[in-house]
Amino acid sequence: MKAYDKLIFEISEKDRIGYNLEKKNLSEVNLPTNLLRAQKADLPEVSEFDVVRHYTNVSQKNFGVETGFYPLGSCTMKYNPKINDELAGLSGFASIHPLQPVETVQGLLKIYHETQKMLSEISGLSAYSLNPFAGAHGELAGLMIIKAYHQKNNDFKRNIIIVPDSAHGTNPASATVCGFDVVEIKSNPDGTVNIEALKSVLSEETAGLMLTNPNTAGVFEKDILEVSRLVHEAGGLLYYDGANLNALLGKAKPGDMGFDITHINLHKTFSTPHGGGGPGSGPVGVCEKLVDFLPNPIVKEKDGFFYFEDSKDSIGALGQFYGNASVYIRAYVYLLTLGKENLGDIGPLAVLNANYIKDSLKDLFVLPIDRHCMHEFVFDGLKDDSTGVKTLDLAKRLLDYGVHAPTIYFPLIFSQSMMVEPTEVESKETLDEFIHAMRKVAKEAIEDPEMVKTAPHHTIVRRLDEVKAARTPILKFKDIK
Ligand SMILES: Cc1ncc(COP(=O)(O)O)c(C=O)c1O
Repeated sequence: MKAYDKLIFEISEKDRIGYNLEKKNLSEVNLPTNLLRAQKADLPEVSEFDVVRHYTNVSQKNFGVETGFYPLGSCTMKYNPKINDELAGLSGFASIHPLQPVETVQGLLKIYHETQKMLSEISGLSAYSLNPFAGAHGELAGLMIIKAYHQKNNDFKRNIIIVPDSAHGTNPASATVCGFDVVEIKSNPDGTVNIEALKSVLSEETAGLMLTNPNTAGVFEKDILEVSRLVHEAGGLLYYDGANLNALLGKAKPGDMGFDITHINLHKTFSTPHGGGGPGSGPVGVCEKLVDFLPNPIVKEKDGFFYFEDSKDSIGALGQFYGNASVYIRAYVYLLTLGKENLGDIGPLAVLNANYIKDSLKDLFVLPIDRHCMHEFVFDGLKDDSTGVKTLDLAKRLLDYGVHAPTIYFPLIFSQSMMVEPTEVESKETLDEFIHAMRKVAKEAIEDPEMVKTAPHHTIVRRLDEVKAARTPILKFKDIK
C-alpha cells in the first residue's frame, strides 16, 4: 500500500508537525473546568506535505460532475459555473455573521429579496421563503403549510396526502413525518396520474396531492389541469415537487397548472452544488391564500431598505437564521448570468439531450414508455436479458468506462429501472461517448456476461456490499477512542 493510500491517522508520526502557531502575548482565559479536555487530543501528527498529498489523492478517488458524465436521473447533476463560487466567496459575503444587524447586511438581503421574486416569477407563485435546507426539507415545510391551512379553516379531518406510485420516496416520507396518512395511487403505464384512481381516493379527508411534473419517468402530466380541478373540488391542495423544474424552466409555470405550493431544489435547477446530499437548499413557494403560513423569516423591502419579517400564521422556522446563504448567492449569480432571455433555452436543450440518448439506445434497451420524453427517461433493462445481466450489473460496468451510473431501480414502477438525465450542459461528443459506452456494455452482457456481473474491474474499489454499507456503516477510524 502506498503511503498516500492510507488514512491520515495511519501516516501519523510522533512529533511530526505541519506548522507552529505564533506565540502571542495574550492574557490567559479561565475556562470552566467542564469545558476543559481531560486528555490531550489524539490528532494525527503530519507534515504539511503529508496533508496536501493525502487530500489530493483522496480527491482523485472521487467522482463528480467535474470529473465526468453524471447522468443521474431525477438528481439533475449539472455543471456549477465557477463564477458562482467566486462571487459567493467574496469576503463581504463569506464573513457575514448571522447575528449582524440588518443595516450591515443589506447587500445579502437584497439578493434574498430578488431571489424570492425571481423564484416567484419562474414558478408562477406569489411568495417564497428561503428557509429550508434541502428539497425534502422544503417538502416538510410545504406539508406543514397544508396542515396549518386546513387547521386554520377548522377542517381537522383532512389527514390524507395522496402520492402516485411513481413518486420520489421523500414525498410519502415527508408526509408521514408531518403526521399525515399516505394513500398511494397506481399510475398509468406511462407514469402519469390515473384520473380514475385519483377520483376513487379523493374525499373530505384529502389534505392534498403531491406531484412532480414532468414525473419521474420524464413524462409531462398532460391532464394536470383536470388533476388540479379534481383535487381543489375535493377541498385539497396541490403540492409541486420541484425536483424536475429544470425541464420547464422559462417555458411553463407550476402556478399556472394549479399548484398551490412548491419546493425548488436550488442544487438541481439553479446550478448550485449537489454532491453527496448537499449543500442543498429547498425554498418553498406558495399561492396567495397561503402566504401567511410561510416559514420565517421572509425578506421584505421598503423604500430601498431590506428587513426580515415573520409571516402572520407562520409554521415557524425550519432552520437557523437565513437558510443556506452561500447557495442562494450561487443561484442568484446563475440566474443573473443566464438572464431572463436565456432561461427558456434550458428546458428544451435538456429535453433534446435526453431524447437523443434515448433514441440512440432503444434498439438495445427496453423502453417501457416509448415516446418523446422530457428531461429524463427510463430504460427497463436489456432487451436481450437471456444471460441474466441486470441493471445493477450494467451500472457497475459503466463505472469501468469512466461514466457515473444513471439512477437505478427508481422509479419503482419498473423492475429494472435505469433513469438517465443528461441535462442541458453536456456536449454532443459527451453524449456520444455515453451512448458508445452503453452499447459496448450491452454487447459485453451477451459475449461475456460473467465479466459484466462481476464489474467494476478498473475502479479503486470493486463491487461493494451495499446493504452491509447501509446497515453497518463504519463511521470512525478504528483507533480513535
Ligand atoms: C423527485 C424528487 N423529489 C424530491 C427529492 C428530494 O430532494 P433533496 O435531495 O434536495 O432532499 C428528490 C431528490 O433527488 C427528487 O428526485
